[in-house]
Amino acid sequence: MKILVIHGPNLNLLGIRERHIYGTKDISFVNECIKKEAEKLKIEVEIFQSNSEGSIIDKIHEAMDDKNIIIINAGAYTHYSYAIRDAIASTRIPTIEVHLSNIHAREEFRSKSVIAPVCVGQISGFSYHSYLLALKAAAEIEF
Ligand code: DQA
Repeated sequence: MKILVIHGPNLNLLGIRERHIYGTKDISFVNECIKKEAEKLKIEVEIFQSNSEGSIIDKIHEAMDDKNIIIINAGAYTHYSYAIRDAIASTRIPTIEVHLSNIHAREEFRSKSVIAPVCVGQISGFSYHSYLLALKAAAEIEF
């Protein structure tokens, strides 16, 4: 099984940005945890971060070559990027939406995810463990 993990905009600033919401761990720590969990679950994982919508879309398209599942934290694009939503729908690769914070317990604009309807499910509010839970779901559930 080959999984692509995508971190969207501003997630490169984890550990610096709004630590009371997103925690104190930086992206390298989160990526190390993702790699360790993937190894345990015998999953091959590629991790990608971009602040740009187009690069995220290109990466989703590329995943059609060799990825079985996508795990995506689309950051703020979650709430308004119809282009990322369409990319997910077009590739038809089962995609799990993740968020560090509980997007339903914050500002109203965050409770709407335009990508949720084209994802198999959403894991939101478990800090960086959201990614690890998504990996477990990917390993254990046949989508
Ligand atoms: C986020 C939630 C989004 O609303 C926000 O724009 C982010 C991070 C999360 O992981 O909690 O950048 O996706």
